[in-house]
Amino acid sequence: MSTRNQRFYDGFMLILGVFVGVLAGIVFMKAFSAGAGAERFDDPDFIGATDERIRPIGRVALIGDPDVGVRPVVHTVADSVSAPMSGPQVYNENCYLCHAAPGVGGAPVFGDAQAWAPRIAQGQDILTERVINGYQGELGVMPPKGGRTDLSDEEILEALAFMLDEVQL
Ligand code: HEC
Repeated sequence: MSTRNQRFYDGFMLILGVFVGVLAGIVFMKAFSAGAGAERFDDPDFIGATDERIRPIGRVALIGDPDVGVRPVVHTVADSVSAPMSGPQVYNENCYLCHAAPGVGGAPVFGDAQAWAPRIAQGQDILTERVINGYQGELGVMPPKGGRTDLSDEEILEALAFMLDEVQL
């Protein structure tokens, strides 16, 4: 063989050798892992560990979804303090959502004396009853406790007092 052919032959055999080696490696690993896998899929520890490893890192939950117990974000502040909330605190976390200007769904606006006058004229008892139990008015719906049924009556009435103070100077 000429030197050139010899060099080609050497190179060819080298590549062929590497190729066969890689192929043999793949076949070996496949056989090995198939055997190992077949045993381990029966193993509760293995299954448990796999479940743990592929556990979702989170899930989407809607506020109030009973399955996941997610509560509105505004609750977190209340939850972290065990002391009852003050009137302004309750107002700022809840009532303002509808009662801040311009007022949502017909809610009388905070500080708007004209809007509040006829409501105050109904008397404290009616206001108290409606704020705690909610009511359907002519303009819209005032939900029980403004939706924060987790708060005590006292906390809600503090918020009511805070709102009334603002229009009864
Ligand atoms: C989801 C919106 C919403 C939230 C939150 C809300 N309100 Fe209201 N509220 C209304 C609407 C709407 C009305 C007016 C309904 C009507 O008279 O038609 C109203 C009316 C009222 C009235 C007048 C009742 C009457 O008899 O005229 C008071 C007092 C009141 N809300 C207090 C509160 C307090 C205190 C909070 C917080 C604890 C609160 N509201 C939270 C929507 C809301």
